[in-house]
Amino acid sequence: VDPDASWAEEIRALAKERDAVLLAHNYQLPEIQDIADHTGDSLALSRIAAESDASTIVFCGVHFMAETAKILGPEKTVLIPDVRAGCSLADSITGADLRAWKAEHPGAVVVSYVNTTAEVKAETDICCTSSNAVDVVRSIPADQDVLFAPDQFLGAHVKRETGRENLYIWAGECHVHAGINGPELAERAAANPDADLFIHPECGCATSALYLAGEGTVPADKVKILSTGDMVTQARSTKARSVLVATEIGMLHQLRRAAPEIEFKAVNDRASCRYMKMITPAALLRSLREGRDEVHVDPEIAARARGAVRRMIEIGK
Ligand code: 13P
Ligand code: SF4
Repeated sequence: VDPDASWAEEIRALAKERDAVLLAHNYQLPEIQDIADHTGDSLALSRIAAESDASTIVFCGVHFMAETAKILGPEKTVLIPDVRAGCSLADSITGADLRAWKAEHPGAVVVSYVNTTAEVKAETDICCTSSNAVDVVRSIPADQDVLFAPDQFLGAHVKRETGRENLYIWAGECHVHAGINGPELAERAAANPDADLFIHPECGCATSALYLAGEGTVPADKVKILSTGDMVTQARSTKARSVLVATEIGMLHQLRRAAPEIEFKAVNDRASCRYMKMITPAALLRSLREGRDEVHVDPEIAARARGAVRRMIEIGK
């Protein structure tokens, strides 16, 4: 028996036994993406988690994603195959940090990226993901100050798109995306003049990409700032034969599946998230066999966070 086939068979059988739906983020290992019931970006997976009638959700992604699913469905069992799968961006702001920042800006509306802990979400008015951050900020009356946390690069992108002066940005970052830098992008773009550039807004190089477009080094219509889910949609409609991708490298698998005729190349092929890669085939099997690791969110914190997360899944539908 092919060991991969017997692994897949056991995963499917155990998922059925547990009445579990398997969700995988676009940065997961290819084997995990391929076995999942749904693969997608953070917003799409949160919506699927909220709508699913399965009693168990197995979240193949990082901890804040599983927590978000638990906040939306407190009656469900939410499992993550390895509870150590954290996120450097979510670690860049604590609940106490946010409370202190709010005290400096009384009356401001707090928008937090979904890459935050449940405690931070409990202090938040509206959560957002990279695919609806601009819509979320546009939904707030122009005369109200906005505190945007924790990603500085996504914050800069939202500020550019909305032209909003009263948007204050926390100085957090994701170590993987911050490491995809402008000079590297410029070099790759010069070597691939016909390629489209798909750039995640968490990247340190997003501003450089727009600068390259502004000075005419890269045609402006080739530069696209996109969430991971929007990259897949864009891949299906682009006319380009080659695309440079600035995000975590797990993304390439889903893009190649969506558009096999296009050549997708990473801007930085070392951009791998060690947390996302903790969800191995063995960890997923153990998770389904043993019902581990179960994700719990303090019910009082979950109740305070739920409104902000629900607003997130409603905006930009
Ligand atoms: P999206 O899938 O929402 O674009 O998020 C990217 C990310 O960094 C999640 O960790
Ligand atoms: Fe967090 Fe960055 Fe990993 Fe996404 S890629 S989970 S933002 S550390």
